[in-house]
Amino acid sequence: MIEKIRISGKEVFPVIEGGKGIGISNGYTAGAFAKVGAVGTFSGANAEIIDKNGKLIPLTFKSNKRLERYIERIEYSIQGSICQARIANEISGGNGRIHMNLLWGMSGTERTLHEILKNTKGILHGVTCGAGMPYKLGEIASSYKVYYYPIISSMRAFKALWTRAYKDFRNYLGGVVYEDPWKAGGHNGLSNKENPKEPEKPYSRVVDLRNFMNSVGLHETPIIMAGGVWNLDEYKDWFNNSDIGPIAFQFGTRAMLTKESPISEGWKRKLLTIKEGDVVLNKFSPTGFYSSAVNNNFIRQHINIVNRQINYSETKNSIFNTPLKYNEDPDVYINNEDVKKVEEFKTSGNNIMMKTPDNTLIFVSSDFSKKIIRQQAECTGCLEACKFSSWSTNKETNYNTGIRPDPRSYCIIKTLGDVLYGGDIENELVFSGHNAFRFAKDPFYNNGFIPTIKELVDRILSGK
Ligand SMILES: Cc1cc2nc3c(=O)[nH]c(=O)nc-3n(C[C@H](O)[C@H](O)[C@H](O)COP(=O)(O)O)c2cc1C
Ligand code: SF4
Repeated sequence: MIEKIRISGKEVFPVIEGGKGIGISNGYTAGAFAKVGAVGTFSGANAEIIDKNGKLIPLTFKSNKRLERYIERIEYSIQGSICQARIANEISGGNGRIHMNLLWGMSGTERTLHEILKNTKGILHGVTCGAGMPYKLGEIASSYKVYYYPIISSMRAFKALWTRAYKDFRNYLGGVVYEDPWKAGGHNGLSNKENPKEPEKPYSRVVDLRNFMNSVGLHETPIIMAGGVWNLDEYKDWFNNSDIGPIAFQFGTRAMLTKESPISEGWKRKLLTIKEGDVVLNKFSPTGFYSSAVNNNFIRQHINIVNRQINYSETKNSIFNTPLKYNEDPDVYINNEDVKKVEEFKTSGNNIMMKTPDNTLIFVSSDFSKKIIRQQAECTGCLEACKFSSWSTNKETNYNTGIRPDPRSYCIIKTLGDVLYGGDIENELVFSGHNAFRFAKDPFYNNGFIPTIKELVDRILSGK
């Protein structure tokens, strides 16, 4: 029998829905988790506004200026999150707990958080925050008496947050989410110290985290294990274990294959067919973080681009001494050894060159280069700093990162939005946890069975 645990001020089952942007975990899914006594988490990143009749009011930009569209997006996101919190609360019937997830790297997060918390008093119980170092999260959430949950992937990261900021806001630190950076879906917090090819077991990393938490008096604060969790059965030795302390579990990928999940039928069917190794860690995200996604055409295309890449120099020197005609611009200089490669790239139809911020050239087709340039021009400033378009929210640097736009990346809001609204799951970004192959192996999903969230939580609680 799985015991309840105190999360955000209430006894709930230790089962937490992982927040998933954009719009993949929403008020409907969060409400369903909470209704059965667990914790539901809607995504506050570009949350949708739904009218009184349940109809989506889509975000349509009034302005065609990036700076104004960036503000419009933030305003929409605020209203959308308030709306999703209300939906979740209504569905929950007052059971369980409702959390919101924010990607700290989204633009305007601090203002967004203030506005949402101001308008969701009593119906939003916690905020989880990942993808970055959310130093301000503790102060902001505490000022509204709302619990906060940083998502970290190492004890070191939590130590930095604690020492610099959270130690002054300990009362509302609801828990610490340890997200396994080798296993979890979405963005992954791998640092330079960790090798993406050498996964480390979560147990000892969570014990490290607990030791640090105990050393600063956080014995009673739960750790929430996320990334690769399938069955609570497999974590029997984590319960009632003083090395681990109070523990709950977060489910990202598994929660996507439910009746309430808003992803397309095609995406749900795809999840049922994923094989081991089909999900890859990659570094293409415009946030600069690692992320985990299904190795479909979208990812393969980006891998191929990286493989069609050579170093170059704007000026001639002893290494880069061979001139290369750069599209319609002045020549650049490459190493003589790369001349043959360039010919091969061009004869394969990839005859347009694009410069990267790492002093390399990539070779792409004319259609692909047009798509990149169009999407960079259509940027609506969703991130604090974007590798793909060089957009930055920093006014002092004229809303530019000062780093050359990176054509090896992509517009995350565009591709995630497209795939959510029924886009082609082979040709858009499909974030997924590395354990997705277990759908095909778990008898629970035999004959393509897709459970309701209640059935999923029952299954998880029964240990399976
Ligand atoms: C499609 C998808 C989108 C996600 N989006 C976010 C997000 O916006 N913010 C976030 O903090 N985590 C995000 N995550 C991570 C989940 O909340 C969760 O921690 C993770 O998926 C746990 O690993 P699992 O997939 O193995 O269960 C996402 C995960 C997936 C699969
Ligand atoms: S290019 Fe796309 S991902 Fe980057 S900031 Fe603009 S809208 Fe966001």
